[in-house]
Amino acid sequence: MKRLLFAGLALSSAVPAFAGIDAAKAQAIAGQHMCLSCHAVDHKVVGPAYRDVAHKYKGDADAMAALMKKVKGGGAGAWGPVAMPPNPGISDADLQVVLTWVLAGAPTQ
Ligand code: HEC
Repeated sequence: MKRLLFAGLALSSAVPAFAGIDAAKAQAIAGQHMCLSCHAVDHKVVGPAYRDVAHKYKGDADAMAALMKKVKGGGAGAWGPVAMPPNPGISDADLQVVLTWVLAGAPTQ
């Protein structure tokens, strides 16, 4: 039992490094690409709060690919009638950093 608990703890502390979450970099990129003029971490602005996005797609293995496409191409309907305009200027690598951070619950430290 003790061993199992220890294994669990070791695993959960290894997850952030594994998933490559870089909160500072993600927020800098999101700022540069104006994502943060429509989105905040914990409350709705024009678009949904990033923590709500994380909640909605929790456990959804296809979320990263679907959201990459949605953010680049824009669209509406997932959160309401207001559309997100296309964001073609962000590179796939940068977008992946931002979405990894968003899907991890948008930690701010
Ligand atoms: C002009 C405002 C605006 C900007 C700029 C913007 N968004 Fe959005 N975003 C929205 C709106 C509105 C929605 C809700 C769309 C819907 O209901 O399907 C949204 C939805 C999303 C979602 C959830 C999509 C879904 O289908 O669940 C993600 C993730 C997201 N935005 C990330 C980003 C990122 C990353 C950027 C910057 C590259 C960005 N947004 C820039 C307005 C914006």
